Amino acid sequence: MVETSDEWITERTGIKERRIAAPEETAATMGAQAAKQALEAASLQATDIDTVICATTSSAYAFPSSACEIARLLGIERAMAFDVAAACAGFSYAYSVAHSLILSGQSSKVLIVGSDLLSRACDPTDRTTIILFGDGAGACILGASDTQGTIALHASADPFSGDLLSLPIPQRGAIETPWLYMKGNEVFKRAVVVLAELVTKTLEKGQMTAADLDYLVPHQANLRIIAATARKLHLDMAQVIVTLDKQGNTSAASVPLALDEGIRSGRIKRGDVLLLESFGGGFTWGSALVRY
Ligand code: COA
Repeated sequence: MVETSDEWITERTGIKERRIAAPEETAATMGAQAAKQALEAASLQATDIDTVICATTSSAYAFPSSACEIARLLGIERAMAFDVAAACAGFSYAYSVAHSLILSGQSSKVLIVGSDLLSRACDPTDRTTIILFGDGAGACILGASDTQGTIALHASADPFSGDLLSLPIPQRGAIETPWLYMKGNEVFKRAVVVLAELVTKTLEKGQMTAADLDYLVPHQANLRIIAATARKLHLDMAQVIVTLDKQGNTSAASVPLALDEGIRSGRIKRGDVLLLESFGGGFTWGSALVRY
């Protein structure tokens, strides 16, 4: 499609394969499939869920939201349901909101889904973006617990650098469909600096050090960014869950997909301390320090 090579993509990004959604699939249909698997893993029924949050910036509809569609597809009748738009950091933001809803007593079982199809948003002739993004969805369910769960959270945004990574929404009547734009090397530099601060701050908030961590579950944008964060924490790469090689950058889906891979492969075990982190357009970023 573009002038590039497997060698360039592997060396600069760490990506070997990506998954592309079928034409009939949407953020909601993919999200519903992920949610079904999360319900099975949690031994819960769809009717146990009282809140559905979908982190996405590629919903097929502004309304009904992808969260409402997911609720419909799962047969959840009376849950609060809404989308969260924080680009690649969407899952971390959704996690923060879910946590607060549970703490306040408003919700008891929150389904959080990260689902994105950014492969469709990339200009097929732009070699700086078309090689990066894959489609996917991941889900998890949060509820109150005395023995496990959230130790510390952090979420923030820099609203003055939005032009470095943007995805315009097509306007009715417009002649051209605008594509995703990214100034890759600038985004790269900011991501490395911000993520280093983010993981340090989150551990401080949780009164822990990197030595307490069992696994880093990072957003999967670039293996060099992930490795830089691991180095900052003095973590061996064996303690980092990497799915980027098989999935590319799946935006809001990447953290729950990595979490799923870590758990289903048997690497992450009950009681392990995990640091989830993500960075995306906006710029936005967020983290969760969690005892699984
Ligand atoms: N194949 C071959 N060459 C390519 C290429 C491709 N797919 N894409 C860009 N290049 C070229 C550029 O044109 C440039 O050529 P030049 O030196 O002749 O001008 C050269 O490679 C270096 O470009 P640069 O953008 O500086 O590369 P990079 O090392 O920063 O890697 C990214 C590019 C996109 C892989 C990297 O910047 C990145 O991952 N950025 C952050 C992505 C991210 O985190 N995004 C979203 C947050 S969710």
